[in-house]
Amino acid sequence: EKKLSIAIDGPAAAGKSTVAKIIAEKLSYIYIDTGAMYRALTYKAIVNGLNLEEEASLFDTLLSTEIKLLPSDNGQLVYLDNKDVTNEIRSSKVTNSVSYVAKHLLIRKEMVRRQQAFATEGGVVMDGRDIGTHVLPGAEVKIFLLASVEERAVRRHSENVQKGFPSDLNKLKEEIAQRDKIDSEREIAPLKKADDAIEIDTTSLTIPDVVEKIMAIVHERI
Ligand code: C5P
Repeated sequence: EKKLSIAIDGPAAAGKSTVAKIIAEKLSYIYIDTGAMYRALTYKAIVNGLNLEEEASLFDTLLSTEIKLLPSDNGQLVYLDNKDVTNEIRSSKVTNSVSYVAKHLLIRKEMVRRQQAFATEGGVVMDGRDIGTHVLPGAEVKIFLLASVEERAVRRHSENVQKGFPSDLNKLKEEIAQRDKIDSEREIAPLKKADDAIEIDTTSLTIPDVVEKIMAIVHERI
């Protein structure tokens, strides 16, 4: 059986990581959450008081930063310089800052280099914004997941409520729209469907529906 590379891109909170994790588990592939890498750097930059507009100091920091993604029972643990930051990188401060860090050319080049190194053998499910267009342009399966801003905000809101986190639906909607705007309008490797990606609108689909659609595509190509 061929070991494929599967790229899953799309806007914020479209369910990419949920679906990518399930697909990776079904196929016994490794799952790489590239957003977690940008988040980890952003977290470190905030803790160190760096100016997020200053590419050079962010880049220097990145070069001396180790980001490890380790599989675990409920998904993936993120280690920053050997410290577990899995929860810290999901804070709203990091979420609302990460797109500024992810705009810089040198940061993206280095992240893409690291991401490509994870995927040299195939057998990988990678999610992000530029996987099908830049990180794994040769991926055998490329998926672009979409959902309305309204639906994505509602999903994130229920997640927060379930976890007992404070949550404001209208604020979430604004933040998601703002992050999509920065990610889509940036100069370097903006969020964009690859020409050969298959678009799936998940607005009225369940997670198992989406998984099933993607698995059908995978089985055609394996
Ligand atoms: O996927 P997630 O929402 O965790 O990603 C956080 C942010 O990291 C995105 O909003 C985007 O700014 C950046 N990112 C990126 N390229 C990727 C993955 C994430 O620019 N491949």
